[in-house]
Amino acid sequence: AITPTPADKFSFGLWTIGYNGADPFGGPTRPPLDVVDAVENLAKIGAYGLTFHDNDLFPFGCTEEKRQSQIDRVKQACADTGLIIPMITTNLFSEPVFKDGGFTSNDRSVRRFALRKVLRNIDLAAELGAKTFVMWGGREGAEYDAAKDIRSALSRYREAVNLLGDYVTDKGYDIRFAIEPKPNEPRGDILLPTIGHAMAFITTLERPEMVGVNPEVGHEQMAGLNFAAGIAQALYQGKLFHIDLNGQRGIKYDQDLVFGHGDLHNAFALVDLLENGGPNGGQTYEGPRHFDYKPSRTEDITGVWDSAKANIQTYLLLKERAASFRADPEVQQMLAAAKVPDLALPTLGEGETYDDLLADRASYEDFDTDAYFGGKGFGFVRLQQLALEHLLGAR
Ligand code: GCO
Ligand code: MN
Ligand code: MN
Ligand code: MN
Repeated sequence: AITPTPADKFSFGLWTIGYNGADPFGGPTRPPLDVVDAVENLAKIGAYGLTFHDNDLFPFGCTEEKRQSQIDRVKQACADTGLIIPMITTNLFSEPVFKDGGFTSNDRSVRRFALRKVLRNIDLAAELGAKTFVMWGGREGAEYDAAKDIRSALSRYREAVNLLGDYVTDKGYDIRFAIEPKPNEPRGDILLPTIGHAMAFITTLERPEMVGVNPEVGHEQMAGLNFAAGIAQALYQGKLFHIDLNGQRGIKYDQDLVFGHGDLHNAFALVDLLENGGPNGGQTYEGPRHFDYKPSRTEDITGVWDSAKANIQTYLLLKERAASFRADPEVQQMLAAAKVPDLALPTLGEGETYDDLLADRASYEDFDTDAYFGGKGFGFVRLQQLALEHLLGAR
């Protein structure tokens, strides 16, 4: 086992380890987990942070006293253990009032209520020192095309995020927003279903610099997309504000498995990207490595903590395997042979214009496409096999 440190920035949602096993077909298989217990055990397994929805910490509609006592308890537990709260988020999906969404419910009074709930929770985020405020619009969507005017829904979403941006700015809070895409579940179709949809939406906002994405492994994979490639684009556009790590096996319901217990190759590529993907081999993402998984309902409390530890171990093992992949001279040679570094070269020379390109006979008239590629391959498969051998510990 590799020992995690706070510098690794591993964090967990209270709703992950606190998941009691209830699903649409059966009730809880585990008793509730108290937040103090959660914080103490997270510190023990080497996490540095806890995250939560408002109603993971205190029940919806509870008294002020109850709310405050839960906030005090989590603060005290954090002070006792050194854990921090890097991110919080708002539950706009569990209560019946949100059955048609929060920011984009067809009912205007629900939208106003949702905004008030979020504003209150932003104050809490500031109080607890959380730097990222996640917005997962689980109920922002529809089952029936005729029932939702998508363009109006996007306008209302935009109105909401703009208002929250004004609030954070006026209050002087050090908080950024991260939109979490998901294609479906619990709604038949959810608004902003993928990283790409979310990043395009962000460009329409009044304060786009305050808003990024919180992509989740399984959510992109539910849509059949390549998660590591999506993360690469989010990094490219400066929008990777937070990340939800877990495992998913193909296009089906949201599994929330342990990180790596799904598409292991893509998990390897992801960790390699996050840890070694910079131009000179450095980290590309410095935020929390946040696990949003669910301990399977077959597990007891021992299984809960074993699975929490499994997320951390898998990440650290992949980090170690990715470093060994990068350090292998044969890999470096195959990367060069596959011309992977050459893609960083601009296609036109410095100062070269399209007139120069048009005048360059070597690039077209005299370019022998047959001779150039006749019989010659890129060697991508060999390169991938080297990655697999490092991944399996055979190198
Ligand atoms: C899901 C989502 C949620 C969000 C969480 C934070 O259940 O599909 O991933 O777990 O991440 O609500 O906003
Ligand atoms: Mn999920
Ligand atoms: Mn989930
Ligand atoms: Mn998530």
